[in-house]
Amino acid sequence: MHRTILISLATATTFLQANAQAKCSKVADVNTTVNPLVPFRPNTATFPCDMGIPIPLGKVPTGCAKFEIIVARGTSEPGDLGMIVGDPLVARVKRDMPGVDVRGYPVQYPASRNTTSAPSGAQDVQNRLIAQMKECPDEKFALVGYSQGGRVVSMATNRMNATLSKNILAVVLYGAGLGNATGSLSGITLANCAPGDIACSDSGTGAGHVSYNNEGTVWHDRTSQYIVAAFNGKPVEQKGPKLVRNPTGGL
Ligand SMILES: *[C@@H]1O[C@H](CO)[C@@H](O)[C@H](O)[C@H]1NC(C)=O
Ligand SMILES: *[C@@H]1O[C@H](CO)[C@@H](O)[C@H](O)[C@H]1NC(C)=O
Ligand SMILES: *[C@@H]1O[C@H](CO)[C@@H](O)[C@H](O)[C@H]1NC(C)=O
Ligand SMILES: *[C@@H]1O[C@H](CO)[C@@H](O)[C@H](O)[C@H]1NC(C)=O
Repeated sequence: MHRTILISLATATTFLQANAQAKCSKVADVNTTVNPLVPFRPNTATFPCDMGIPIPLGKVPTGCAKFEIIVARGTSEPGDLGMIVGDPLVARVKRDMPGVDVRGYPVQYPASRNTTSAPSGAQDVQNRLIAQMKECPDEKFALVGYSQGGRVVSMATNRMNATLSKNILAVVLYGAGLGNATGSLSGITLANCAPGDIACSDSGTGAGHVSYNNEGTVWHDRTSQYIVAAFNGKPVEQKGPKLVRNPTGGL
């Protein structure tokens, strides 16, 4: 049933691989380690030269937090949680939830082209939830997946039972098809799809796929509002998947 989405993702990955070499020199324009709140300048958001290679895994936080944002990065996306989605988004959620102990958890998976990559990420999401629920029963979660990471999140949520998903307050996909790929959690899923993101439709050039942190876009600010509302128990729209196509419009 999720065939179309998976085909779209495969198409996007192929596109990005084919174009990675031409664009790779631009990555140095932005250093999200310094300030993840700083957006990319227009048209400079790119993936690294070695598209498809496994990348170093971000550090695993220990102990309990009030709120943990589990982030599955896109293919070969550098950064602690991912420079296009995870790092800038989690920085905004922290900004928008002053005084709340919020942190990101980088899904421990290679984000490579290997077919074992996404399933191993889905397994890691599940393992993380099991471990944290045991150690920190009050910890709440949001799941975020970008590109291949969206596939990771969809695979994980599709196989989750109610016990495992009960502390998940929000699910967010970026460039990963429609939000209904997330099974029983589709009612709390926001699906961000930029114009021209080939992973969201069969049309588009593919350039939109890496545009989520571009200057002038508000994807992360709006997604942060969505996550904060979910954390505060405000009703997040539960009328099925949200497909946001206009980066300057409302949610
Ligand atoms: C980004 O900035 C950090 C902190 O100043 C530095 O350690 C790191 O090497 C920089 N990364 C790049 C790719 O310039
Ligand atoms: C894919 O991953 C598996 C399991 O980690 C590994 O054994 C295999 O060598 C990898 N394949 C490639 C082409 O890297
Ligand atoms: C839910 O899934 C978890 C992880 O797979 C498992 O440990 C647990 O027993 C399951 N609970 C129920 C009620 O099926
Ligand atoms: C997902 O939702 C969209 C929009 O509501 C719908 O057109 C599509 O058929 C759904 N896909 C699946 C696999 O349920």
